[in-house]
Amino acid sequence: MLVFGIETSCDETAAAVVQDGRRVLSDVVVSQIDVHKEFGGVVPELASRKHIEAISVVMEEALGEAGIGLRQIDGIGVTRGPGLIGSLLVGIGAAKGMSLALGAPVCGVNHLHGHLFAAFLERDDLDFPFVGLVVSGGHTSLFHVRSNWEIQLLGKTRDDAAGEAFDKVAKLLGLGYPGGRVIEDQARGVDPGSIRFPRALMEGDELDFSFSGLKTAVLREVRKRFDVSETPDIPGSFHPIRLNVSHEVAREDIRIIAAAFQDAVTDVLVEKGFRAAEKYGSDILVVCGGVASNGSLRAKAMEEARRRGIEPVFPSVRLCTDNAAMIAARADSMLEAGITDSLDFDAKSRW
Ligand code: KG4
Ligand code: ZN
Repeated sequence: MLVFGIETSCDETAAAVVQDGRRVLSDVVVSQIDVHKEFGGVVPELASRKHIEAISVVMEEALGEAGIGLRQIDGIGVTRGPGLIGSLLVGIGAAKGMSLALGAPVCGVNHLHGHLFAAFLERDDLDFPFVGLVVSGGHTSLFHVRSNWEIQLLGKTRDDAAGEAFDKVAKLLGLGYPGGRVIEDQARGVDPGSIRFPRALMEGDELDFSFSGLKTAVLREVRKRFDVSETPDIPGSFHPIRLNVSHEVAREDIRIIAAAFQDAVTDVLVEKGFRAAEKYGSDILVVCGGVASNGSLRAKAMEEARRRGIEPVFPSVRLCTDNAAMIAARADSMLEAGITDSLDFDAKSRW
């Protein structure tokens, strides 16, 4: 079965063709990072406009790269949510138009389920059931994936997502947007042990997450070391640090804070991920979503995996960050299970 995937939930316009839910024939992603960078985060109105400019070109490219004609498409998958409504509507509109023109079924895909199904593109021998941890800019959620139609939420963040924490801390440290990669770069080779930031909700068999306390602890540390001024009109919001000490000392402090922060986040993610896998008797832990491209998280998970005898599956970095191949893979499984949507489905900002 050939499934066409479309993803426009945030700041990537993406289209892909996937065969039988396991083989990527094409995977086109146009990122808007450069557009949003100067604002320090995604501007929803700008994102929608950029999607509408890019969508048809990206779709045509995905067809061309796959070397197939439109008429060969058996089904269409599009991200229905969670995400920015204006952005989602661009992809959904395109998918509905395509479905109408081809008479092919369309599935509105949960973006988080899409991230989970990226694992099948990485490992075509992967089978149900498995436990999956989705760590992205907007979500930190644990799932028990039992079949094409049974995906149970086991735990999620009570406040900030892990990626959101990376982005906020990077902003605070004056490192720019998006934060994950820059924090990882700053932390490389630095001993993370000189500051011990809190690891929240680690007790018992708790599977929820919380990262807002960690963010506050980082802020306290930054204030201790640097001159940070509070934004007068937004209580609790802070300007990025202004360096008032010698640059070399400041740079070293930034690296130390970045490393200690990354260490705290990755400790929690690894512990909860494997805890859930053990609790649900899964010998596989899938770790996916943008934050799963973090090298330190991958290394820690590999180490813990050896200790616990559970195999970690990390999709490649390209499949971890937002893409449409994962949406097509999830749609394939929905079509297999007979789950399709009628053409009047709407976008969901939360799911
Ligand atoms: O899954 P994704 O591409 O988009 C969402 O669905 O949110 O994830 C984006 C998030 C951002 O918060 C970004 O800072 C984070 O993933 N990220 C990373 C790394 N690369 C991207 N976080 C930690 N380390 C990285 N190397
Ligand atoms: Zn995502």
